[in-house]
Amino acid sequence: MSEKLSIHGQWSSRLIFILAATGSAVGLGNIWKFPYITGENGGGAFVAVYLLCIAAIGVPIMMAEIMLGRRGRQSPINTMTALAREENANLVWSVVGWSGVLAGFFILSYYSVIAGWALAYVLRAASGVFEGIDATGVQEVFNNLVGDPERLLAWHTLFMVMSMTVVARGVRAGLEKAVTYLMPALFLLLIVMVGYAMNTGYFVQGLEFLFEPDIKRVFERCEIVAGMEQCELSGKPVLVALGHAFFTLSLGMGAIMVYGSYMPRKTSIARSALLIAFLDTLVALVAGMAIFPIVFANGLEPGAGPGLIFQTLPIAFGAMPAGQFFGTLFFVLLVFAAWSSAISLIEPAVAWLVENRGMSRIRAAAWIGLTTWVLGLGSIFSFNLWSGDEYKLFEMTFFDLLDYLAANIMLPAGGLLIALFAGWVMSSQSSRAEFAMGGVAYQLWRVLIRFISPLAVVLVFLNAVGII
Ligand code: TRP
Repeated sequence: MSEKLSIHGQWSSRLIFILAATGSAVGLGNIWKFPYITGENGGGAFVAVYLLCIAAIGVPIMMAEIMLGRRGRQSPINTMTALAREENANLVWSVVGWSGVLAGFFILSYYSVIAGWALAYVLRAASGVFEGIDATGVQEVFNNLVGDPERLLAWHTLFMVMSMTVVARGVRAGLEKAVTYLMPALFLLLIVMVGYAMNTGYFVQGLEFLFEPDIKRVFERCEIVAGMEQCELSGKPVLVALGHAFFTLSLGMGAIMVYGSYMPRKTSIARSALLIAFLDTLVALVAGMAIFPIVFANGLEPGAGPGLIFQTLPIAFGAMPAGQFFGTLFFVLLVFAAWSSAISLIEPAVAWLVENRGMSRIRAAAWIGLTTWVLGLGSIFSFNLWSGDEYKLFEMTFFDLLDYLAANIMLPAGGLLIALFAGWVMSSQSSRAEFAMGGVAYQLWRVLIRFISPLAVVLVFLNAVGII
């Protein structure tokens, strides 16, 4: 039987698939988002729930996404339709693909704004702005940047152009190679940062914050009101941890599915998924170990929000030998990590436009880029013109709302549907043939994907809205 391939091409090797998927997974989510939401949600207990979500929900769903993609060999929308047809199921399952396209738009629109901050910081680090800087100084640098919509717009525009260029050329042409060198470099640099953090005198405190779970805090949300910490019972931290497990692994919207559709047939899906999840988690934890000691050593607030890494890491660069060099390098690498993630956020939509509208990749990328760019304006203004309470909905800015909706609701919901489809709709002959793995491993996956993952997602949802 001749093997069916995607019209968009195929990864050149199994290693390239792993690199591309890891490039998608490792991004701002690990280095920017993980530390700040961990800070906002109280530390160790949050991290414990997050790790549990990665292992019990993230890995099985990642395997399911790769498997569906490789079997369908098309954009997620058309893959879901084709597989539903193959199993004689309702074609409405293609909604997984559609909601994924929408979630990808939402996420990239603000992702690009934050990647723009990283771009801006490359210049600041290179020009020596951070030399000997203290906590107040770095806060000023940050506020000057995010308070200025025009500057943010310029950086957001640059990042969108960068991402569209790569998508237009096809994933294989440019980024594959870059990722091969840049990801390991980023990781090494994070280790250097941990080395600095060890010398702050607050390393142990940082570790305790990250790894000492205070179980009652899992269900609490705390706020500092007039200098006093006030906590109330809430299912929100658990939902945020679940949402982040999806976000950081690029799950629930078809990104990994579309990457799976370009995957060579011989590659082991289970081993790939485990490796990707492991590397992704490692980067996040190492980033946390670099950042929190600096937070405590400088009397900063762990719950400072989205600006956290931009207000802490420069202090370290300003104080370490050759910090100007390391600082510049760090933000360059952060941009690359964001870049290799951004392209996966719109690949599902681009692939669909090429398949169904007969567009060239260039045209498709341009349209999608333009739409995302416009939506990004809302996130830009969230940090300045629209930061006031009169512009908030449920106490959230446009940026907060978009992130909450996409990451904490759309991704887990998409993941739930993917799990149900892969576990219940698809026959075990089909999934077993695609995985080609041994009895016990397959059975374990099947239990996880049919019962554990869906149930966990539903319970977390019910808990977050206060029903249980
Ligand atoms: N995983 C990336 C990060 O952590 C972001 C990302 C890329 C993503 N593709 C995605 C998130 C698809 C959700 C869905 O930065």
